[in-house]
Amino acid sequence: MEPTPAGVSPVRGSAENQAPARRGQTLDLTISDLAFGGKALAKIGGFVVFVENALPGDRVLATVYRKRRQYAEARAVEILAPSLSRVPARCDHVPICGGCRFQDFDYPEQLRHKQRQVEDCLAHLGRLRVPSRPILPATSLFHYRNKMEYSFGRDGDRLTLGLHRRGLFDKPFDLERCHIATPISSEIVAFVRDFAQREALPPYDLRRHTGLLRFLVVREGIRTGQVMVNIVASEPHPALERLAAALRGAFPSVASVVLNLTRRKAQVALGEEERVLEGQPTILERFGGLTFEISSNSFFQTNTEQAERLLDSALEALALTGTERVLDVYSGTGTFTLPIAMRSAEAIGIESSEIAVRDAERNAERNGIKNARFWRGEAMEVLRDRLDWGGRDALGPPGRPDIHAVLVDPPRAGLHPGVVTRLIQLGAPRLVYISCNPSTLGRDLALLCESRFALEWIQPIDMFPHTPHIECVAALKRAG
Ligand SMILES: C[S@@+](CC[C@H](N)C(=O)[O-])C[C@H]1O[C@@H](n2cnc3c(N)ncnc32)[C@H](O)[C@@H]1O
Repeated sequence: MEPTPAGVSPVRGSAENQAPARRGQTLDLTISDLAFGGKALAKIGGFVVFVENALPGDRVLATVYRKRRQYAEARAVEILAPSLSRVPARCDHVPICGGCRFQDFDYPEQLRHKQRQVEDCLAHLGRLRVPSRPILPATSLFHYRNKMEYSFGRDGDRLTLGLHRRGLFDKPFDLERCHIATPISSEIVAFVRDFAQREALPPYDLRRHTGLLRFLVVREGIRTGQVMVNIVASEPHPALERLAAALRGAFPSVASVVLNLTRRKAQVALGEEERVLEGQPTILERFGGLTFEISSNSFFQTNTEQAERLLDSALEALALTGTERVLDVYSGTGTFTLPIAMRSAEAIGIESSEIAVRDAERNAERNGIKNARFWRGEAMEVLRDRLDWGGRDALGPPGRPDIHAVLVDPPRAGLHPGVVTRLIQLGAPRLVYISCNPSTLGRDLALLCESRFALEWIQPIDMFPHTPHIECVAALKRAG
């Protein structure tokens, strides 16, 4: 007799038993795969059940909490037979943490699933039958993140500080140690939590919109050892100045403590106003042989080591000879623009964030790079307005701006259709697409490859072990 929780008669998930899943029902399921985004997947005949807290190869009892016409969502309540790919998780928080979903999934299996998901996205969304290159594994499986965002919350009367519980955005648990963050990051969390509890500082209440402390963001230059502590709060408070001084006293590598003030109701760790409480406003990181200055609110690649693998692949795809004029669309703080400028005649970054553009310009200056410039604005508008499409000035022949290669690195939503159109009109012989979302990559590649571009190769790179995230570099060539 199979073990079941008290009072539950599990329905066996098999092709013979086509009973549609009902909400509240407990099913006996064998997990056959991982769906895009990381949920485990089981099938009852043709009916799909997405299962939380399970891994491919597990046989579980799972309770259905949502039922739709074509699929159901369930939560595993008991593992009847564990997958052979299960390994002991290093972190004690894994069962509840919303971060590392796969720490107990053998790393080679994580990679195999990520690679297949890229190939599936290319085939189904991109209608492309190009085999992917083998995924590049991460060199460090732990302590790889140079930035962590922690939330303040409340458990009864007690202030909590840590990461979100899986599926709950307003209930952070007290983090002891995060194994994908750097060790000092967890030490700073414990220090700030102790300080806030001792001083009885109130966490921000998301429902009433009262209270003080919202987020703690810890950033570290992995190559320089410089640490930035960013406290996001609803208003200034004298205790926060004491906290900043205490942090600098306790952690000599803390080079910057900043306070970001926000009155927004939305849960975003960004301030409308920033004050430097201790040290400098920025920290330094070395990347691609250059030194980058990073401020609290600008984007910087979260895994420095693996981002260099991205850069290597992008440079291989661009195949620069030193004479090209290159566009880097969605350029952030110039992480790719500046290494490209060093290998080409000119690199132009296009970026909507004013802070990122300011940092990028400062980074160009700091590294003595004179052939990089940055155009601030929405990618689609900048491509339309700043390039010469009509031969009105001397930048290029009429109707086709003088650009030899383009790199795009958009946010998860992928390319705006207007940007795709401009890229097709541009006529640059080479296009490199860096993506953090294989499904929007597949969608955009379908459009590009229908019109003049051919996909040469695609390189998945694992930047975030133990999580479902996948990065890719796609190399495209103009076919006509
Ligand atoms: C994935 S990040 C890449 C940044 C940079 N390539 C790097 O590696 O550091 C995407 C960047 O696109 C910028 N961005 C988002 N939407 C944009 C838009 N519509 N036009 C221009 N830039 C945009 C963001 O501010 C962010 O810096």
